Amino acid sequence: MVQLTLPKNSQIKPGKTWPKPDSSALREYRVYRYDPDSGENPRIDTYWVDTKDCGPMILDGLLWIKNKVDPTLTLRRSCREGICGSCAMNIDGFNTLACTKGMDEIKGAIKIYPLPHMPVVKDLVPDLTTFYAQHRSIEPWLKTTSPTPKTEWLQSKPERAKLDGLYECILCACCSTSCPSYWWNGEKYLGPAILLQAYRWLIDSRDEATEERLDNLEDPFKLYRCHTIMNCSKTCPKGLNPAKAIAEIKKMMVERRVSA
Ligand code: SF4
Ligand code: SF4
Ligand code: FES
Repeated sequence: MVQLTLPKNSQIKPGKTWPKPDSSALREYRVYRYDPDSGENPRIDTYWVDTKDCGPMILDGLLWIKNKVDPTLTLRRSCREGICGSCAMNIDGFNTLACTKGMDEIKGAIKIYPLPHMPVVKDLVPDLTTFYAQHRSIEPWLKTTSPTPKTEWLQSKPERAKLDGLYECILCACCSTSCPSYWWNGEKYLGPAILLQAYRWLIDSRDEATEERLDNLEDPFKLYRCHTIMNCSKTCPKGLNPAKAIAEIKKMMVERRVSA
């Protein structure tokens, strides 16, 4: 996995150090805190988590802090088992899911920031409005012109197998927010997560809008800002390979130009 160098932000100040609980099993958490409404600069608060009183994952520690120490700490989570993608954050320099990352995988203080290069709503909650709008822009649903079948749209086993490694994406945004091209052109470049989703529909044998989908991606920014840096594939907590999906879309573009 690639360790990200977080942008140097001289405005981030050391914050409050919260009291140590009376326990022989403590882990130090250093957590990014920011409330845009306060008018104050971001800060890093230090907490001590009693690991005898909570589960083993990073998310367990954060929820222990929220429930037992500081209820103002703000984060997203839902499934706590790597399915919903909502607990994505930067932990010890890596974008990953707090619910599937164990405290024992990290030595020393556990440093936690929101996903990099996104506006922050509060603390560990990034603003994903643009990300979701980009997802909608690729029309992530089955598009057909043939008459709707009486039962279901059929697919052979080999056709279905082409979706493996794509349908598992949980849209956590870990990959897009580790991609330097997305950092610098996030408004115009779709980024690895959305392009992986785009490819998922491009190769679905039941979909009948392939040309229209490729036309939609034929743009100097949406697709071609990927420079094969590969951070995305090294980071994905589900073990997916968005860079390969992007390369496959580029191949489809070339093939249709050649056959035109
Ligand atoms: S391979 Fe492309 S999408 Fe992935 S990190 Fe690199 S530039 Fe970004
Ligand atoms: S490809 Fe992986 S890192 Fe990217 S959004 Fe999907 S699950 Fe998350
Ligand atoms: S809480 Fe759902 S992926 Fe972590």
